[in-house]
Amino acid sequence: MSIQAVKGTRDILPDEVGAWHDVERAARALFARYGYREIRTPVFEQTELFARGIGAETDIVSKEMYTFEDRDGSSLTLRPEATAGIVRAVIEHNLLSTDPALKVWAAGPMFRRERPQKGRYRQFHQVDVEAIGFTSPTIDVEVVELAISFLEACGVERHELVLNSVGDRACRPAYVETLRAALRQRSASLCADCRRRAETNPLRVLDCKVPEDQATIESLPKIADHLCAECRDHFAEVKRQLELLGIPYRENARLVRGLDYYVRTTFEVVSGELGAQDSVLGGGRYDGLVRDLGGPDAPGVGFAVGLERLVSLLPARHREGRCDVFLAPLAPAALDPALRLQRELRRAGVRAMLDPEGRSFKSRMKQADKLGARFVAILGEDEMARGVWTVRDMAGSAQQEVPASGILEHLRERTNG
Ligand code: HAM
Repeated sequence: MSIQAVKGTRDILPDEVGAWHDVERAARALFARYGYREIRTPVFEQTELFARGIGAETDIVSKEMYTFEDRDGSSLTLRPEATAGIVRAVIEHNLLSTDPALKVWAAGPMFRRERPQKGRYRQFHQVDVEAIGFTSPTIDVEVVELAISFLEACGVERHELVLNSVGDRACRPAYVETLRAALRQRSASLCADCRRRAETNPLRVLDCKVPEDQATIESLPKIADHLCAECRDHFAEVKRQLELLGIPYRENARLVRGLDYYVRTTFEVVSGELGAQDSVLGGGRYDGLVRDLGGPDAPGVGFAVGLERLVSLLPARHREGRCDVFLAPLAPAALDPALRLQRELRRAGVRAMLDPEGRSFKSRMKQADKLGARFVAILGEDEMARGVWTVRDMAGSAQQEVPASGILEHLRERTNG
């Protein structure tokens, strides 16, 4: 019996990987223009980092983490997201002391033991952007604008920005109590999960997708009516600047997101083309997280894009040719000069391939065609006797004889120049 990939994981096959490269290239080019530099952190961390950072009562921490005991008895966890690890690294290396306004991005696999479905995996990939050390709503807007520009640079045309403010540590506790009281009154009409969340983490109720609960949840008090003056002003300025920049958004008072570290701005970008898992990216402000994890009292704001979801939104790519020159040694004695030429071409930057299996001429031409070769260089007994190669241009099928002494230069000039 053959062994299969673990449920909820997927292989990115060679035909797909070009789209991933495009996205990664777009990220690198765009983020540099905004002053964000790459940071790479480990895929596993001490479990406590996520419990403290993301919140013990979140689904991610309470149900979805891949946690294991290391041989020395310590508890480790495969990262379910990037923010906590980045903040840990920023504190550990004291990055804020040399760069009080830190802009970083990261990319890589994340792990959550969710129920797999289309667009939801147990190993998935994110591109993550974090701006740490900025209080101003202008940076919330920069981060949102960067997120949208990134999607557009990748070729995603249809998307919707959803926006909310979840208040801060000054005004949210009172709102949470108001919400809890309202939930207690309505508990008979809520699902078991929501009844539990009403006690442990009432904001999570706003995330509930159970159809029967929706009318009740819509009737709950809205956070927008309970923001303190500072949070109200911050949110108003975020919206004003988004309008100034011509970035459309929809406000949704229920957008609280699945991580506890958010304060003030939260946002998601959704796409109707994704199905049930419709959020392609999500983020927000997390003032307080750096301090909670043992660092200075530095604010932060960022977002993460799900790459599986992003790639699924991109138009199908043309399959690219993989080869510039396909070498066809047609006689046993032709193999050695063909091997030498293959090496020289590759060293000169030309994508060259050779079929060492000694198949028929016809099947080699078919193979060259499949590989998208631009030229086939043929060396048979006749060519060897006359000291030439026959070069076939696959675009027009024109053939030309080229002296062996000039074949490298000839092919180099016509391919990568
Ligand atoms: P998140 O909303 O949990 O936020 O994840 C961000 C994105 O990752 C989602 O919008 C989705 O595209 C993708 N994603 C999440 N879970 C899965 C999954 N199981 N399978 C496939 N894709 C998934 C965060 O992770 C925050 N750390 C974002 C952030 C950065 N906030 C501030 N800075």
